[in-house]
Amino acid sequence: MKKIVIAIDGFSSCGKSTLAKQLAQKLGYLYIDSGAMYRAITLYFLRNHVDWSDTQSVIQALEQIALSFHRDPETGLNEVYLNGENVEYIIRDLVVAEKVSEVATIKEVREFAVKQQRHIGSNKGIVMDGRDIGTTVFPEAELKLFMTADSWVRAKRRFNEMVLKNPHVTLEEVKSNLDARDYMDTHRAISPLTKAADAVTIDNSQLTMEEQLDLALNYAVK
Ligand code: CDP
Repeated sequence: MKKIVIAIDGFSSCGKSTLAKQLAQKLGYLYIDSGAMYRAITLYFLRNHVDWSDTQSVIQALEQIALSFHRDPETGLNEVYLNGENVEYIIRDLVVAEKVSEVATIKEVREFAVKQQRHIGSNKGIVMDGRDIGTTVFPEAELKLFMTADSWVRAKRRFNEMVLKNPHVTLEEVKSNLDARDYMDTHRAISPLTKAADAVTIDNSQLTMEEQLDLALNYAVK
């Protein structure tokens, strides 16, 4: 079957990456988490005290950043590396989550990430999730999914993931981080989160993982 590009966009924690991973596995495609790239850049900025309000500092910092994805042989999933270090887990921390959407508004940061995303997707056979994949990164994607879910459902899902690593995290803290990021992602000047005109909406508030996969696979093989 002809390989296609599948773009999955949507709000924070609405199951984009779960669906993207399942689709990639079913179809034998590559899965790329574009949010992990913004998170890894944010981690670098935080660790190196980069003043991201200053364009020159941002440009200089980006010159020092090499991002790559490598497959974990045990899980079969791609993990993100920052200058050769596996940062897949550390970038999920709330400290990074609190700053990532601000960093993701920066023009130079977006250009840096989008260029690499397009390069990775140039051979098709890819599922990429994020905020601007169907609108900016791959406007020609053959299948675009726009995912959403009730905001409390999303906060509870993310809280359940985070509390395993950090027992001190609270549901309110997680919800307020999601709300703040959704606001910034939908209101920023460059490539804001918005549904592409030709995207299909999936609201998974009431769907099981199997149901959402079946739904998406139906669109993918049409
Ligand atoms: O997994 P979660 O929904 O929490 O977010 P993520 O996909 O890891 O993305 C983290 C942040 O990166 C988002 O809140 C956006 O601010 C930014 N992002 C973006 O601007 N564009 C993308 N294509 C992907 C993520």
